[in-house]
Amino acid sequence: MKRGIYCLLYLALLIPLFFSVSWAQAETFVSGTVITADGMVVASGVVALERGELHNNEFETGGVIGSDGKFKILLPSGGPWGLHVYSEGYLYFPLQITVKENQDKDVPVVLPVDSSDKDDPRLSDIRFEKRGADRFRVRMTVRDGNDNLGPQMLAIDGANLKSYRLVPVGGDVADKKADFPEGEYVSADIRGNLDALDRGQWFFVAADHQCSNGVIYNGLNQSVFSSPRPNPEPLRCEIPGIWKSNFDKTYRFITAGPDRFAGKQLEGDLTVKEIYRKGDLIKFSFVFENEEGQADLSLICSDQMIEMKGSFLFPESGRKGAWLFTKLQNEMRGPSGETLFKNNCAVCHFTDSNARKVGPGLQELFKSERLPSGKPVSEAEVSRQIKEGGGGMPPFGHLKDDEIRALVEYLKSL
Ligand code: HEC
Repeated sequence: MKRGIYCLLYLALLIPLFFSVSWAQAETFVSGTVITADGMVVASGVVALERGELHNNEFETGGVIGSDGKFKILLPSGGPWGLHVYSEGYLYFPLQITVKENQDKDVPVVLPVDSSDKDDPRLSDIRFEKRGADRFRVRMTVRDGNDNLGPQMLAIDGANLKSYRLVPVGGDVADKKADFPEGEYVSADIRGNLDALDRGQWFFVAADHQCSNGVIYNGLNQSVFSSPRPNPEPLRCEIPGIWKSNFDKTYRFITAGPDRFAGKQLEGDLTVKEIYRKGDLIKFSFVFENEEGQADLSLICSDQMIEMKGSFLFPESGRKGAWLFTKLQNEMRGPSGETLFKNNCAVCHFTDSNARKVGPGLQELFKSERLPSGKPVSEAEVSRQIKEGGGGMPPFGHLKDDEIRALVEYLKSL
């Protein structure tokens, strides 16, 4: 599993911080949709949350990922929480979030592909053990392909949205960064009547230090896997969108013109000046701590990940380093060509005939050799007509370049 070395340094960074405010409810939630870097929506898996800082191992709440890739978990309070998302076949996703009281925090989650299951932790022998009328504990055996287990041996109570950490039967390991032993793991006592428990609603997962998790089981020792579905909107190989850098910062980039982009750092003090793209090469200039900086990046798209990768340099001080951006979300596309046409053009032009309204009918405009004015048909001429107007048509110079492009695409479809 090649990407594993990045796990702690890098995977923890795939985190845009968005807020979705829902005024109607007075309860605190974290919710999200789990998509994968190779364009799928996860259809099975679990989520566990620890109170406070990520990796402090105080697991408390959790739940199940639905077949639509969504999860929604009630939290006892707002504040900082460490979120862990697990799905078989993908590397797990740890991230620090801050949740506002009485709000539903929406967290986009992108899981990288786990290219091999040979090194995955393997669970077996999941058992429930009665400890009196209203108490029980859970046990499981854990093996690991490459013997680098981490501290996350988890049981999730999907019905009550709770999570519990299991520790080695011989006692917990003090250094949580150390490799944990293979063997039997046990939980502390859990309140509840074991005889009335629905074991199908309990889930068990283990992760290693490279963010690999293997098969996720329910309390009946059955795998809960179901195949991911194609993402209706896979991440596009283009610069506009939401990105996460290797410095734990989130950026939004938008189109500013042909091969030109603008953008900003969403929480931080780096100012994006200009971004130019030439083929797969990207020139990025910015200001950080009052110093001008430049970066040369390349856009690298594979089935598994959309990245911009390269290095930055501050010419004055000579400071430099590696820069890596991972795409998390597509930029929402502006209004479609059809909508733009309805709003701006339909008062004067038919699209389903060549009859004149105020201006000429535009049906099959691009399928003719000449425009109604007699000029040869070309995208450039039609764009010019839209921008500048003329012959009784008002100019539409206020429309953005990509809106004009969208209009032209729409006219070509008529
Ligand atoms: C107020 C009425 C009006 C609106 C609104 C309008 N047009 Fe026109 N349009 C005209 C007229 C009049 C002409 C004929 C111009 C000419 O004969 O030179 C025309 C011509 C055109 C032509 C043909 C140009 C050529 O060289 O023959 C195209 C294509 C066109 N319009 C597209 C659009 C689009 C796209 C929009 C919306 C962004 C739009 N028009 C909005 C009135 C309008």
